[in-house]
Amino acid sequence: MPLFDVYPLYNVTPVSGKGTHVYDENGTEYLDLYGGHAVISIGHSHPNYVEAVTNQVKTLGFYSNAIQNPLQVALADKIEALSGCVGYELFLCNSGAEANENALKLASFKTGKSRIVAFKNGFHGRTSAAVAATDNASIIAPINAQQKVTILDLDDIVGVKAELERGDVCAVIVEFIQGVGGLDQGSSDFFEQVYALCKANNTMFIADEVQSGYGRSGKFFAFQHYNVTPDIISIAKGMGNGFPIGGILIHPDIESKYGMLGTTFGGNHLACAAGLAVLKTIEEEKLIDNVNEISEYFVSIAKTIPQIKKIKGRGLMLGLEFDFEVGDLRKKLIYDHHIFTGGASNKKLLRILPPLTVNKEHIEQFFEALIKEL
Ligand SMILES: Cc1ncc(COP(=O)(O)O)c(C=O)c1O
Repeated sequence: MPLFDVYPLYNVTPVSGKGTHVYDENGTEYLDLYGGHAVISIGHSHPNYVEAVTNQVKTLGFYSNAIQNPLQVALADKIEALSGCVGYELFLCNSGAEANENALKLASFKTGKSRIVAFKNGFHGRTSAAVAATDNASIIAPINAQQKVTILDLDDIVGVKAELERGDVCAVIVEFIQGVGGLDQGSSDFFEQVYALCKANNTMFIADEVQSGYGRSGKFFAFQHYNVTPDIISIAKGMGNGFPIGGILIHPDIESKYGMLGTTFGGNHLACAAGLAVLKTIEEEKLIDNVNEISEYFVSIAKTIPQIKKIKGRGLMLGLEFDFEVGDLRKKLIYDHHIFTGGASNKKLLRILPPLTVNKEHIEQFFEALIKEL
């Protein structure tokens, strides 16, 4: 049976990984500055991760959400301790889209309203409301298009005010650093005013931290660079270092009710074991400090390269903008230099989303290759 052909594939077959590298079937080493799309947080096959997942699968891999699961409680406590989001409650699911879908649904339950405000170039996933809130008409099917969504420009505070004052908006959903769209960020003023407008209009303020969370921005969450307190925070990618897990952090003002949300697989034992190993490693190896140190080093080198027109992003969610499309450059970096990088909707942007364990030598290797190609 052929695979449903929805992904344009690079001709590389990674079969193993260690730290910031993956290896193909011939043993060729690739430097992974893409992290499987910002997923690999603590590095491929980290010993803490391998041990936790191995021990858990040998003990109990799965049971449903109808029983006590102390691993979920431990994970919630550890997220609270490392993120500083004290008092929030955790609902676990399996992916970023599912996290946002649940966040939007909860916002609608809480407010009794149904329109969403989202932003130009935003990406929130491919499920029903999450894809409708995504600014990409080509991935919105007619069944998704029935959702009520208004897309505004980042920094259009006049537009946000006008929409929220109409009284039917359940949620404003924001990426504090846009991922797929190309690393644009609103201003502090904008985010803080949107937050205030949400408070004034009984609208939930949702921080989509699926890509920017878990330390990637240089703080545990990207919203923590601003003075806002989201009602709901969605998380996924870096959370499981490749094991499928997602979740939402829910402000205590939103009350739970039996049956309001639910999932079969979400929060299963194996996923929680993976999630706990990730947080233990982020803490033990002080990976958020590493993010800030390596980010600064990366930017300091990038600034010396005249062909780079703009350096975008924050932490280890970085982008280099050129005055040409980067598709061929990315191919050269993979095939000739064995370095994975990322692209974006902005075709002139090369994205860097490495494991948070990346070091200065890896950055030097990247720039050496980049300069050769430029
Ligand atoms: C900001 C953001 N939200 C949501 C998603 C969707 O996550 P998933 O692919 O796990 O459904 C992504 C994926 O790239 C993302 O970058």
